[in-house]
Amino acid sequence: METFGCQMNVVDSERIADMLTQIGYLPTADAEQADLVLLNTCSIRDKAERKVYGHLGSFKPLKEKKRDLIVCVGGCVAQQEGERLLEKVPHLDIVFGTHNLHKLPEMVRLVEQKKGRFQETQFLDQETRLQLFPQRRDSDAITRFVTIMQGCDNFCSYCIVPHVRGREISRPSREIVQEVIELAAEGVREITLIGQNVNSYGNRVEGEISFAQLLELVADIDGIERIRFTTSHPKDISDELIACFGRIEKICHHIHLPVQSGSDRILQQMNRGYTRPLYLDRVAKLRAVCPDIRITTDIIVGFPGETEDDFIETLSLVEAVGYADAFTFLYSARPGTSAADLKDDFSADVKQRRFDRLLALQQENSRQIWAQDVGSVLSVLVEGESRQGSGQLYGRTTWNRVVNFTGSDNLIGETVSVKIIKNNRNTQLGERVSKNN
Ligand code: 5AD
Ligand code: SF4
Repeated sequence: METFGCQMNVVDSERIADMLTQIGYLPTADAEQADLVLLNTCSIRDKAERKVYGHLGSFKPLKEKKRDLIVCVGGCVAQQEGERLLEKVPHLDIVFGTHNLHKLPEMVRLVEQKKGRFQETQFLDQETRLQLFPQRRDSDAITRFVTIMQGCDNFCSYCIVPHVRGREISRPSREIVQEVIELAAEGVREITLIGQNVNSYGNRVEGEISFAQLLELVADIDGIERIRFTTSHPKDISDELIACFGRIEKICHHIHLPVQSGSDRILQQMNRGYTRPLYLDRVAKLRAVCPDIRITTDIIVGFPGETEDDFIETLSLVEAVGYADAFTFLYSARPGTSAADLKDDFSADVKQRRFDRLLALQQENSRQIWAQDVGSVLSVLVEGESRQGSGQLYGRTTWNRVVNFTGSDNLIGETVSVKIIKNNRNTQLGERVSKNN
């Protein structure tokens, strides 16, 4: 199984793996060994989507060698393409959409019995979706994702998510709290509450608490030491939520706050629902309650009609905020979104040059921010042994950077003091400030 895209797919893949295990399929890292291969796909940009076809192509020789191999595609490309995927890819057996994970075992059984090829991409009603919400699973991890909402109603003009994940739905707060209590009892120390737009949690449900109130409840649970959440929408980040960063110690000092563009004109065309001044006001308020907060973002370059002036506004916003990191993307027209109808007539070259300028600016900003850590002693929650193997541990700082350092595995799950020695590309190298181990 291979997973592409966002945390939603990561959580879905965990569930898929559990369901497949129950019907007798165990994980293998070697595709040659597999009786079933599955791609959990992402369609956020054209490139992500093309990868799926590339990957599927690579399974063709395998299927020719092994007639009984079952080839499955799930996730957002499956949702969008449905039947067309089966038509385009003759060696594909199963296509299942974002609301149809639960159908997979039954579909696999049918394919095993040579009953044909199958696709399920129906959107479900709210009540059924609530019953099928991802639930707690056993695992010995120190950090876990907890899904608190799914789908999105914002319809940003460039975005495929509302079309492939369906309408926004919030999970009942008592279920979320119960899950976190159970996770804490299992040894989980950090949770990340996830949803497409967590800030609007509960807004559409009569009598449900707000996201800020949910954070308070989760923070009261013994054993949970750190709380993160993603993704936040700037238009929905309330004063009440911002205040949580000052009031609730367990909330990590990092927020991912996608801005997409620094130009009001483009923000409006994107249907983002906020202006540049409003965004900057939210950032100033966050810094007022939590001065050392680090902010990361997403930015789209080359949205249809973006002028040089619009782009300069983006550069100046990036400069004004001082992001710790920014994920930058070239605009990619997605079928079915409203921006796909906009005239998009400036050259790929101009877009690429803008992209490179933004990247260079951000890389320098990032370098300066992370360089401040060298020599400091930071609290690191130890998550496990690093890939380098024995004696090497990794964990993260409050700012969500991975730190690698030497230590014994009985520290896993503990929060330790680590002196930062050096910055690598996306990680830091540290040295434990000694206790006994
Ligand atoms: N083209 C380019 N980037 C996109 N994103 C979403 N849709 C598109 C698109 N059509 C980016 C946004 C979002 C991130 C997850 O992906 O920046 O925040
Ligand atoms: Fe897409 Fe906008 Fe919803 Fe984010 S808030 S998932 S960018 S539509």
